[in-house]
Amino acid sequence: MLAVTSGKGGVGKTMVTANLAAALAAQGRKVLVLDADLGLANLDVVLNLQPQFTLHDVLHQGLPVHRAVMPAPGGFFVLPAGSGLVEYSRLTPALKQGLQAVVTNVAAHFDIVLLDTGAGISDVVLETVAMAHEVLVVATPEPTALTDAYATLKVLATLQRRLRPWMLVNQATRLGEGMSIAQQMQAVLDRYLAGSGQPAPKLRMLGELPQDEAARLAVRQRRLVLQCAPGSPLAQGLRAHALRVDSWLQPSVSAGASVPAPDAF
Ligand SMILES: Nc1ncnc2c1ncn2[C@@H]1O[C@H](COP(=O)(O)OP(=O)(O)O)[C@@H](O)[C@H]1O
Ligand SMILES: [Mg+2]
Repeated sequence: MLAVTSGKGGVGKTMVTANLAAALAAQGRKVLVLDADLGLANLDVVLNLQPQFTLHDVLHQGLPVHRAVMPAPGGFFVLPAGSGLVEYSRLTPALKQGLQAVVTNVAAHFDIVLLDTGAGISDVVLETVAMAHEVLVVATPEPTALTDAYATLKVLATLQRRLRPWMLVNQATRLGEGMSIAQQMQAVLDRYLAGSGQPAPKLRMLGELPQDEAARLAVRQRRLVLQCAPGSPLAQGLRAHALRVDSWLQPSVSAGASVPAPDAF
C-alpha cells in the first residue's frame, strides 16, 4: 500500500495516482485507488465516474465495502470517498478505526493499493498516510511546494518514523530538475534533522515528470493522461515510474497471486 501525499495542494497527486494505477494495471497488477483526500475528494470527477456508493456509505451506513468499489477506465478500481466526508477536519477515534478496518479488508483483494491523500500536515492527512506501508511525497519545483514538502517530510519522519519516503518532482521544466531538487532537499533534511539529533530521512527518488499540456487536456476531457495523450512525455514518464513503483512495493502478505480475489471485485 502506497500513500501519495504532498505538502502543498494542487501539485498533481491525483493525476499521478490515477495514471500510475492505470500503468500498473496495464502491467498486469490488480490495483485499487482509494480516494483518501477526505476534504477535497475529486478522483471520481477527474475520472468521470458516477459513483452510486462511496466510502461514506461504507463508514456510516454499514454498506459492504465491495459495493462501493467500482471499475475505472484504465483497468483499475476506485473506492470513492464521497462528499459526506468533507465535514471532518478531524477523524474521531471510531471513524479512524472504521476507516482502518475498511482499508485493511479491501486491500487484501488487491496486489497494490494507492491512497490519493490530501495535502499538508493536518491530523486527517497524517492519519490517512499512516495507513500505508510506503509514502510518496509529490512536489513541484515551486519554492512554496518545496518548503511545504520539506515540512511534510519532517513531520512524517518525526511522527511516523518514515525514514525512506519516496519523492517525485512533478511539473519539471527541464530534464534533471527533479533530481537536483531531490538532492537539495536531502541536503536540507540532513542539515536540520541530523543536527537535531534525529535520524534524517533518506529520500528514494521515484523520478520526475515534465510540465506537460497533456495533464490539463486530460482534466478537461476527464480522462487519463495515458489514454488521451499516450505518446506524450508525461505519459512516458508515468509508465516508467510505474515499473519502479511495482518493483519497490513489497507484495503485501495478504495480497498477491496466491490469494484468489473474489468475484465481487
Ligand atoms: N505534469 C503536469 N504538467 C502540467 N500540469 C499538471 C501536471 N500535473 C498536474 N497538472 C495540473 O495541476 C492541477 C492539479 O493536479 P491534481 O492532480 O488535481 O493535484 P492534487 O491532487 O495534488 O491537488 C491539474 O489541473 C493538473 O492538470
Ligand atoms: Mg487531488
